[in-house]
Amino acid sequence: MTNQNLEHTLVLIKPDALKNSLTGYVLSQLSEYHAGLRFAGSKIVNVPRMLAEEHYAEHRAKPFYFSLIDFIRGRDQYPDAPEKRRVIALVYQGVDAVQKVRDIAGPTDPHVARETRPGCVRALGSVVPVKDADGNVIGHRMDNLIHASATVPEAEREIKLWFKPTDIPPLMRPYETVTCDQSYYYQEGQLFTEYAADRTLLVAPGACVWKTDLEVLNAINEGATPAYTLEAVASKYVVNERPEED
Ligand code: CDP
Ligand code: MG
Repeated sequence: MTNQNLEHTLVLIKPDALKNSLTGYVLSQLSEYHAGLRFAGSKIVNVPRMLAEEHYAEHRAKPFYFSLIDFIRGRDQYPDAPEKRRVIALVYQGVDAVQKVRDIAGPTDPHVARETRPGCVRALGSVVPVKDADGNVIGHRMDNLIHASATVPEAEREIKLWFKPTDIPPLMRPYETVTCDQSYYYQEGQLFTEYAADRTLLVAPGACVWKTDLEVLNAINEGATPAYTLEAVASKYVVNERPEED
């Protein structure tokens, strides 16, 4: 395997796959042997609103957006059982990993997937109506079992959004890391360098962090314009810290 073609991609096994007990099926479709890829990271995530909104930021203006946020957070599948709201997040590594996993997933729309690519994972998905507060149908949402990064740059953004470097074995880490030399905390959209009650520790001196994340934190701390948002750095550190309240 040459490093030139070595790619990484983010896979999410979405809450509809968990609800329908299709996790084993999805993982077997993604088997290392058949895909020719290697698992580099995995975690079970109770998806905080902040992470869902960052992940789907490009869809903010779409009619299905709010419904999509509820869906990826498992609120639709488990309205009365918050403890069951999870996704399985994976980093998959290998030659042409991005396109290979997109091919295994298939078209975004499950109806199109069934028509054009029977046998792909998303062919087992469903399309559900999206309603406004009065119950009128205002669009449709595609519940398609699996997320797969669409491009190499998107994969980098998404892997850094969901995974800390230390979630991935050192020899499999795709992006540059640095050692942090100060503490940063997060609370309600703001960055702090000192601890206080209800602030979440993001990084401490000695922590191994994505280089670009530390650049973002330092820029915000210095009042400069960061390359991406504080939420994109903080999301993975607040994951599984405490139950979400909504
Ligand atoms: O996931 P993919 O990259 O194939 O599609 P996308 O256009 O980036 O949309 C992200 C996700 O939003 C999809 O996987 C669907 O779950 C959802 N979506 C939807 O519900 N309705 C649409 N018209 C388009 C996307
Ligand atoms: Mg996409």
